[in-house]
Amino acid sequence: MTPSFPRSFTTGSASLLLASTIFGFTGALTVPAPAAAAEVNVYTTREPGLIQPLFDAFTAETGTKVNVLFGKDELIERIQAEGANSPADLLITVDVGTLKRAKDADITQPITSETVAANIPVQYRDADGAWVGLSQRARVVYASKDRVPQDTITYEELADPKWRGKICTRTGQHPYNIGLFASQVAHEGEEKTKEWLAGVRDNLARKPTGNDRAQAKGIFAGECDLALGNTYYMGLMQTNEQEPEQKDWAKAIKVLFPDSEGRGTHVNISGVMLTKNAPNKDDAVELIEFLTADEAQSLYAEVNFEYPLKPGVPASDIVASWGELKADTLPLSDVAENRAKASELVDEVNFDGGPSS
Ligand SMILES: [Fe+2]
Repeated sequence: MTPSFPRSFTTGSASLLLASTIFGFTGALTVPAPAAAAEVNVYTTREPGLIQPLFDAFTAETGTKVNVLFGKDELIERIQAEGANSPADLLITVDVGTLKRAKDADITQPITSETVAANIPVQYRDADGAWVGLSQRARVVYASKDRVPQDTITYEELADPKWRGKICTRTGQHPYNIGLFASQVAHEGEEKTKEWLAGVRDNLARKPTGNDRAQAKGIFAGECDLALGNTYYMGLMQTNEQEPEQKDWAKAIKVLFPDSEGRGTHVNISGVMLTKNAPNKDDAVELIEFLTADEAQSLYAEVNFEYPLKPGVPASDIVASWGELKADTLPLSDVAENRAKASELVDEVNFDGGPSS
């Protein structure tokens, strides 16, 4: 994703320049700036197609403009580097590890809204208010409908030699896999997780490559029978009108929720944080509240195929059709704390070297 953002965001003092951008003025700011419309500046790692409908709904309801900078994980460092002059009000990102990293980078201020606290259960909020979860996703197993008769599975079983040469995944170092492996460290300890990772590596059909959807394509193409993937990609493939071949990939697959009869399936969240120096704090908090309320939580469900975090907001029919999610109740802070160890283990077993390493 190439960062796309009004050029004025590369400067330190954004408000006047932004106002000039909004009203189409360029060049020297000798023109008296009009009274600035309410606005919120968001930095996000989320895909535009997923997050823009939520901002559009907020703007339609409140009249407040949302300026968005799309980027990758370097956004944390960017906010750090911009310091007190950062135009960013909010950082919206995925993975509890990334949220923790932003908290540790000291770029946040506590979110103290009672509305937010009422909407999002306490286990999905940082204890100090540094971040608030907005949506949930599960890391499931995509299984070939044709070649995998069983309808249940455990993560443990992915290391069983019966799957030799049958499993596909993206790099072991991707945050989605690191989150899962970190949960494995929390549950099973370091030694057992290392053995397990080596067993999964031995079962790989190919060197880890591509994103989650590429693994679905691998199943469709007969290169593998099982793959690790996040739930929402299944919905995005099933409904992809722009690249209809992805519908065929999804048709080849059934979703298995690992450990649904035991400790539950590994889940992770997307979340938001309020920056330490948010220049539009009040409007930014209003946007956070909006994102945790019924309408936006329904959009997370219906547009993104994620699981809403506000109790009572249902998953979409498509998501519900895959079966019931029984989520692992391991605190997300335990996942975040074991990430570094999980990453070390991935390297120690040369997971990304593939099956012959
Ligand atoms: Fe994703």
